[in-house]
Amino acid sequence: MIEVNHLTKRFGRVTAVDDVTFRVERGEILGFLGPNGAGKTTTMRILTGYMPATDGTAVVAGFNVFEQPLDAKRRTGYLPETPPLYPDMTVREYLDFVARIKGLPPAERRPRVDTAMERTRVADVRDRHCGKLSKGYRQRVGLAQAILHNPEVLILDEPTAGLDPKQIIETRELIKGLAGDHTIILSTHILPEVSQTCQRVVIINKGRVVAVDTPANLTKRLRGSEMLYVEVDAGAADARALFERLPGVTRVGETGRHDGAVGYEVETVRGQDIRRDLARAVVHEGWGLLELRPTGMSLEEIFLQVTTSEEPVAEVSHE
Ligand SMILES: Nc1ncnc2c1ncn2[C@@H]1O[C@H](COP(=O)(O)OP(=O)(O)O)[C@@H](O)[C@H]1O
Ligand SMILES: [Mg+2]
Repeated sequence: MIEVNHLTKRFGRVTAVDDVTFRVERGEILGFLGPNGAGKTTTMRILTGYMPATDGTAVVAGFNVFEQPLDAKRRTGYLPETPPLYPDMTVREYLDFVARIKGLPPAERRPRVDTAMERTRVADVRDRHCGKLSKGYRQRVGLAQAILHNPEVLILDEPTAGLDPKQIIETRELIKGLAGDHTIILSTHILPEVSQTCQRVVIINKGRVVAVDTPANLTKRLRGSEMLYVEVDAGAADARALFERLPGVTRVGETGRHDGAVGYEVETVRGQDIRRDLARAVVHEGWGLLELRPTGMSLEEIFLQVTTSEEPVAEVSHE
């Protein structure tokens, strides 16, 4: 439904988007995840025809956005970072105005506006001026204008930014409800967003795609750095020094102590299971081994790891 191939955008000497390639299948919600300045907004502006690319191609709903921009635009709804509301128009007037701009036939305007207001739950403020709306409502009216012409593709730039926790949950549910009928790309720099809303994630950093996968697979792939949680009662001895000497261990961190027991996080190189060696060493010292279990990485840790690494994900190492 969306195909981005080798997309590049340079602003003078700044390369905001650097050879970005990814696909989004019909009905899918794709998360576009990256820190501020990663190139998310620039990519979305190109996909929605607001900005030309320096290089590469983008096809949206079967239309090349550079060669057939009107056809592509007609099938795309766009929620920019700041929804373009007119403060002096009421919500209904504004949506009717957008419906005209989008060229909806007069007979369809009213039912379309009503449906969009219902789906985004803004009907109760339909007669309020846009300038008087709360941030949450502004964002929802922005969503309403994006879905007004019932586009196949929705491109939502940080749809939950600046919302309070309750509004965030509501907006997420709303977006999930729109998937299926629509193919969605949403950008965010917040991690829980993608694991809770998206089927697939493109992680972008400094204009480059560093990973594309499902949230679950990303976690699995990067769990390569086996992380163990170990709790020992070593009396006055230094268990940390012992763990650091075990072959395969790359890092040992203390996580806490209570009642004479000390908890450690022991990180090892990918694919090396040191649990037997570690258990034997602890017993050999005559210490008590109270707990020993592998721990997974949160998406948060993965994100930090891929965005701080210079290398592509497949080659992330832990030296
Ligand atoms: N119109 C512009 N002119 C010059 N540089 C820009 C422009 N728009 C964005 N940039 C730069 O491109 C990079 C990516 O920005 P942006 O796409 O807004 O990132 P994100 O949305 O991920 O925070 C940043 O370094 C930003 O400063
Ligand atoms: Mg942005």
